[in-house]
Amino acid sequence: MKILITGARGQLGRSLQERLNTRSGVELLVCDRELLDISSDTDVASCLTRHRPDLLINAAAYTAVDQAESDQENAYKINATGPGILAKHCDRLGIPLTHISTDFVFDGSNTTPYREADPCRTLSVYGQTKLEGEQLVRELHPQSLIVRTSWVFSRHGGNFVKTMLRLMNERESLRVVGDQRGCPTSAGDLADAVIALSYKAINDPSLYGTYHFCNQGETSWYLFARTVFQQATELGLIKNDCSLHSIATTEYPTAAERPAYSVLDTQKLSLALTESPRPWPDALYTMLTELKDSLDG
Ligand SMILES: NC(=O)c1ccc[n+]([C@@H]2O[C@H](COP(=O)([O-])OP(=O)(O)OC[C@H]3O[C@@H](n4cnc5c(N)ncnc54)[C@H](OP(=O)(O)O)[C@@H]3O)[C@@H](O)[C@H]2O)c1
Repeated sequence: MKILITGARGQLGRSLQERLNTRSGVELLVCDRELLDISSDTDVASCLTRHRPDLLINAAAYTAVDQAESDQENAYKINATGPGILAKHCDRLGIPLTHISTDFVFDGSNTTPYREADPCRTLSVYGQTKLEGEQLVRELHPQSLIVRTSWVFSRHGGNFVKTMLRLMNERESLRVVGDQRGCPTSAGDLADAVIALSYKAINDPSLYGTYHFCNQGETSWYLFARTVFQQATELGLIKNDCSLHSIATTEYPTAAERPAYSVLDTQKLSLALTESPRPWPDALYTMLTELKDSLDG
């Protein structure tokens, strides 16, 4: 099976590679932004026509949420136009497409976990461009999967956990937002779920559609940071003391508004895979252990 990954240098892209590189029967085509710009119709057309993969997983995205507010054109090109181009050519060539989206398609007004069919309403440019990307994929390619996820962390690239580790090592105290609730997600666990679901859907096309994946258990950024501190201290990744303080969103103004509550209900995906995601603290511990091993390495 020939699998093409776009956005291969990102958190999810690297995790997908780690898993698929060693999987038997897989020929992996790894495309970072330089090799394939998903917003170029001609580049996508010629790449897909030349390689004819059996599956395309789109891990490319514009993920700088605050920057997107003042860089709308690029965010739209990468998060909406690009997925639309991929969907159009995948449909033309009969290539199943797995696309990744976000909890930011919701406005956070729910009080119970968001299900796939819940109405979307975005609060930010990032959220809006990702929502339009989803809509184009759905419209243009019936053989597609859309997997929404949230609060992604990995030892690769930039993310909340790595920012916290750096700041906790530099500072004696830290203020972290405590009134936004969501679910942290390991890029590795997301990659496993995306691969498993993509394989299943190829054999059972009734599975194509939209899914939610995040690790189990909801938390706030503040409580997430506290767990990072506890686990990282235990593993020797943080050597000094750092006191953490919970603050309100209003005390930490950002260019983009975030949903106050973006917990995703993962039942549909768990049913399809007959497996539930593991709790986020376990996934965090795995990531921190891998990070420590790579630093010791
Ligand atoms: N990170 C999160 O917390 C989070 C939360 C919810 C959903 N998601 C979604 O999960 C997916 C994976 O996110 P991630 O955290 O792995 O993102 P990431 O680490 O930011 O990686 C995205 C990758 O896409 C590449 N890219 C940007 N523009 C491109 C283009 N025009 N053509 C090809 N590649 C391009 C980037 O390349 P450069 O490095 O060269 O820019 C980067 O390597 C995305 O769909 C994202 O929206 C992420």
